[in-house]
Parts: sequence; C-alpha cells; structure tokens
Amino acid sequence: MSLQLGSIAPNFKQHSSVGDIDFYQYIEGSWAVLFSHPKDYTPVCTTELGRVSKLKTEFDKRGVKVIALSVDGVESHKGWILDINETQNCTVNYPILADEDKKVSELYGMIHPQSLDSLTVRTVFIIDPNKKIRLMLTYPASTGRNFDEILRVIDSLQLTDKYKVATPVDWKHGGDVVIVPALQDPTEIKQRFPKGHKAIKPYLRMTAQPNL
Ligand code: BEZ
Repeated sequence: MSLQLGSIAPNFKQHSSVGDIDFYQYIEGSWAVLFSHPKDYTPVCTTELGRVSKLKTEFDKRGVKVIALSVDGVESHKGWILDINETQNCTVNYPILADEDKKVSELYGMIHPQSLDSLTVRTVFIIDPNKKIRLMLTYPASTGRNFDEILRVIDSLQLTDKYKVATPVDWKHGGDVVIVPALQDPTEIKQRFPKGHKAIKPYLRMTAQPNL
C-alpha cells in the first residue's frame, strides 16, 4: 500500500553527499523533513536547496533534521553543492541522498512518471519522532516550494501534539488557535486554557496560542 498520513516512514540505507546514511539512525529521536527535487544543476532546485540551508537554525529550534534527495550520484551532488553555496550565498549543511538506484524514491512514491518521466518530483514528508508521516506534499518541477510553509506546519503539528489545539486557516505563530472538538470537559478546558476562550459556535472555540 502506498504511504499515507499516519503511516510509519519506512527505513532505508542510501549513499549521500556526507557518506552513507541509515535513515532511522540519522533521524532517531527527532522530527524530520525528507524532501526530493528533480535534478542537480537545475535553477529552481538550486534556489530551494540554498533556502533550506539558510533555515537551519529554524529547523534546529524545532528539533528537525533535514535530508534532501535526488536520483543523481554523490559526485554530482558534491559539485552542485559548490554552485549552490556560491550562487545562493550559503553553506549546504544537510545531506543530499544520492538515490541513483531509485530505492528511496520508489519506496516513498517520489517519481510520478506522467508528470516527470523518471525523475523525482518535489515531494516533502514531515515525519515525527515516532517515525509517523505527518505531512505529505507534492509540487510540480516548475514550482519552487515555500519552506516557510513547511516550518509553519511543523509549528502547528508540534502545538497540536502538546496542547490539544488545532490551527485555523492562515494561522501564523502568535495567532489564536482552535480547541479540538474532542475536548468537551469544561473543567479540563479551564485548566488547559487559563486565559479563557471564546465559543463562536459550540464547535468553533478560539483561544490564545497556549505556549506564549
Ligand atoms: C528546476 O529545478 O529548475 C527544474 C528541474 C526540473 C524541471 C524543471 C525545472
């Protein structure tokens, strides 16, 4: 069966720009972002991988390990990284998997042949410390992703896990959040949200972001 939200992210061993990687060992105890791009030495990918390297402190703050992937080889990755660093004014500071045998791409359904022949499309998997897949996203080759959105989803997931809240449309850090419908006990609601909440409808209850 293909991977879905809630599936356990499968383990793999693969070569990378920083040596061989056992995925489970690499991400042990952390959140992870595994993302594919179509090809080395291509313009959109160059900008994306540069941007991700500049967000390292943001990923670190959230306890997230990042790992990129394409079906090019290790030497190609190493040469391209020099170009990314030069053109994007950055230092690529995370591994790029060299998935030449397509072992990982096929395991994670990253190749969509009706869109892009035998290359990987732009996929993102957010994986939690229990190795559960919490987000899957697929973009076409011609559209660079917005990695601020990936950070926003990680913030939302981490908040949900800790505080029994969900985040409404266009939520950003600092904005009001939604009390999950499963939480009905008025005493527990008072304990969990001492700043109070507003019930716009019985099912639509807003409260201040609890960890601020
Ligand atoms: C790019 O990264 O620019 C790209 C890669 C494959 C197809 C189209 C664009």
